[in-house]
Amino acid sequence: MPRNIAVIFGASNMLWMVFAVSQGVKVEIFPESKIIAQIGGSASLTCSTTDCESPSFSWRTQMDSPLYGAVSNEGTKSTLLMDSVSFRNENSYLCTVFCGASKGERGFEVEIFSFPEDLEIHWSSLPEVGKPVTVKCLVPDVYPAEKLEIRLLKDNHSVATQDFLEPMDVKSQETKSLEFTFTPTEEDIGKALVCQATLDIAPEPQIRTTTEKMQVYISPEDPVISVNPSTSLQEGDSVMMTCTSEGLPAPQISWSKKLDNGNQQLLSGNATLTLIAMRMEDSGIYVCEGVNPVGTNRKEVKLTVQVAPSDTTISVSPSSTLEEGSSVNMTCSSDGLPAPKIVWSKKLRDETLERLSENTTLTLTSTKIEDSGVYVCEGINLAGRSRKEVELIIQAAPKDLQLTAFPSESVKEGDTVIISCTCGNVPPTLITLKKKAETGDTVLKSTDGAYTIHRARLADAGVYECESKNEVGLQLRSITLDVKGREGNKDYFSSELLVLYCASSLIIPAIGMIIYFARKANMKGSYSLVDAQKSKV
Ligand SMILES: *[C@@H]1O[C@H](CO)[C@@H](O)[C@H](O)[C@H]1NC(C)=O
Ligand SMILES: *[C@@H]1O[C@H](CO)[C@@H](O)[C@H](O)[C@H]1NC(C)=O
Ligand SMILES: *[C@@H]1O[C@H](CO)[C@@H](O)[C@H](O)[C@H]1NC(C)=O
Ligand SMILES: *[C@@H]1O[C@H](CO)[C@@H](O)[C@H](O)[C@H]1NC(C)=O
Repeated sequence: MPRNIAVIFGASNMLWMVFAVSQGVKVEIFPESKIIAQIGGSASLTCSTTDCESPSFSWRTQMDSPLYGAVSNEGTKSTLLMDSVSFRNENSYLCTVFCGASKGERGFEVEIFSFPEDLEIHWSSLPEVGKPVTVKCLVPDVYPAEKLEIRLLKDNHSVATQDFLEPMDVKSQETKSLEFTFTPTEEDIGKALVCQATLDIAPEPQIRTTTEKMQVYISPEDPVISVNPSTSLQEGDSVMMTCTSEGLPAPQISWSKKLDNGNQQLLSGNATLTLIAMRMEDSGIYVCEGVNPVGTNRKEVKLTVQVAPSDTTISVSPSSTLEEGSSVNMTCSSDGLPAPKIVWSKKLRDETLERLSENTTLTLTSTKIEDSGVYVCEGINLAGRSRKEVELIIQAAPKDLQLTAFPSESVKEGDTVIISCTCGNVPPTLITLKKKAETGDTVLKSTDGAYTIHRARLADAGVYECESKNEVGLQLRSITLDVKGREGNKDYFSSELLVLYCASSLIIPAIGMIIYFARKANMKGSYSLVDAQKSKV
């Protein structure tokens, strides 16, 4: 707001030219000769005489331009009032007093200035400890600028000063400023920064000052997080996390959680975050952020809610039954938090485990029969363990199959014969013993690949076959057993003999006798028809 002032000073101090001379009437003026008026303010020039009862007044400017003011006459006094002074009022004014035939004249010189009360202090950025910053002292709407000097004082010490001596071509109000760049320190906090402008106009230099208490900032330092009881928790536990970060002004602390999509979910605007009844989903990265006007700093903490491993699964590629020499991949997975460690072992005969690998995939290349067995995968973490087993069967095509008859392949009726089949590389359970016949093969009930014929009969003679077969192959062996009848042994009921007898006799009584003996034999349980015939012959 421009002040409504006029600075007045005496003619004696000035290089002042009186350009009108009294020609009889003595004219008095106020103020004496020179006046300096502020733009926007008002100024009044008064001209009076004591020599005349009823004078008349006339006002004009030196160049006969308009007066830009209002004249009011009152008795022996005339006043030229200029409201809202502007550049056009900067002129030489002449007051003429008429008293009858005589007159008198006095001149005024009006100078103007512009110098608003308030200076502005601007910062290039918020002043921060350790970071260069430029402060600018700005003097708006100043006139005449060539009389201006600006000075910046920090903590009562002048740090920069500048004047603006180049004269202006055009009369105008100008905005002038002084800049100063420095790096604030903690000592600057609260110190005064003064912007001082001096307009060196007569009679007295005008001074304006604006003082600012320096606000110096410190960006938030690395937050420090304390977690109680631990970052590693069990389901249902509670945890309290406290975060601190130094800075000036004290940073605002907030807690949030990182989401899977990369965003953050704000949890608290407090330094302390308490989580209760934690669940597996509460595991994750929590972020503490300290924010103040000059910066942001953050720190992350990872919380793990441990969950016992579960759903341990094994996949076997290509298959858990394999041919000797082939390769197999057994891959194990297990759910849990923290992610379970996988341990592969093989179960030994005594049920103890032989640890093989901690890789998720256990690879066996060029498998051997001895690799068969139960493999165990365990998912292990701090919260527990989960286990899964798989049985691996390595097979070989049967080989070295041997079929023997003991004591010999040629026996006599009544002998005991053992037909035995063995295989070098497969268990006897995979061996089948058969007796071949045109009407169809008979599978023999063998024990460990051996079949025993007690008291061999002629009908036991024939081809015996041994077969060993598994998923990967088949082997066959056969032998022919020869059973010879015993010489002189008439106990034997030979069908050939019977046919021969029937054919040669061809008599009815004989048939009747056969029936008779046959019935008798049935009744006795055993009977020799040959003996019976012999005794009758
Ligand atoms: C600044 O200096 C002036 C004189 O130069 C003195 O009167 C004033 O007390 C000083 N202020 C401070 C804060 O030192
Ligand atoms: C912060 O803590 C105060 C008490 O210390 C509590 O009243 C306020 O609700 C808390 N604000 C949040 C966002 O948790
Ligand atoms: C086992 O895994 C390896 C690596 O992935 C692969 O190169 C190989 O072919 C796999 N073997 C079998 C038998 O699946
Ligand atoms: C685990 O896998 C790495 C490569 O993936 C292999 O170098 C290492 O031998 C494996 N360890 C066992 C015990 O199989």
